[in-house]
Amino acid sequence: EEGLHPTAYPWSHKGWFDTFDHASIRRGFQVYKEVCAACHSLDRIAWRNLVGVSHTASEARAMAEEVEYPDGPNDQGEMFQRPGKLSDYLPAPYPNEEAARASNAGALPPDLSLIIKARHGGCDYIFSLLTGYVDPPAGVEIREGLNYNPYFPGGAIGMARVLFDGLVEYDDGTPGTTSQYAKDVVTFLNWAAEPEHDERKKIGLQAVILMSSLTLLSLYVKRFKWGPIK
Ligand code: HEM
Repeated sequence: EEGLHPTAYPWSHKGWFDTFDHASIRRGFQVYKEVCAACHSLDRIAWRNLVGVSHTASEARAMAEEVEYPDGPNDQGEMFQRPGKLSDYLPAPYPNEEAARASNAGALPPDLSLIIKARHGGCDYIFSLLTGYVDPPAGVEIREGLNYNPYFPGGAIGMARVLFDGLVEYDDGTPGTTSQYAKDVVTFLNWAAEPEHDERKKIGLQAVILMSSLTLLSLYVKRFKWGPIK
């Protein structure tokens, strides 16, 4: 059974010539890190990917260093832990699928790297899902451990509502509301799924300008050359 159709929201990066709101990517990363990362991995993003996008190199390095990564063997053949580097990937919350399911009543929190592309409805769907938890309608029974969300196909989802007003404190003074968190984390996840997005649109715009100029030029040259013959 299909979920409720999500509302089409006016994402600031949606237009042909629009790039991402990088302040929103930064806030969205904070939401991912403080909320979603407890259950969802983001396998395709390394700390270095944030540099120049949402964070400075020293900020990204400092965050990496807060995480311990397995390393080794050393000269004695021992395995050990070391602080993270820019080249390390973001840490996953669980060692494997079995552990992930065991902590989530059997449901598997998917890796969020490509989720915006993987789910029908993309940004609008994930925003609606995160902000759309409501009581089940009269007569609808939700099994223990599941939660009602009309946007989720089938209506019963293993993830409970996770975003609430005031949960995350932004350092740029943006008010912390449920919908602001959802908007920011969706913008961040869209960047994660399409890190080349801004560059692609800039190059696309240049291509359109170049092609139009060449077309106009060739029309002008054609008229100029053929003018005397007619
Ligand atoms: C599923 C996003 C936080 C546990 C999902 C899905 C998305 C998502 C997009 C896939 C829905 C679908 O299949 O269509 C997020 C975001 C979070 C967040 C953006 C932070 C704002 C969490 C947290 C937990 C969690 C903190 C654990 C306490 C799960 C589980 C599923 C899931 C178990 C699988 C649900 C099912 O298939 O029934 N989440 N999530 N999520 N999430 Fe989260």
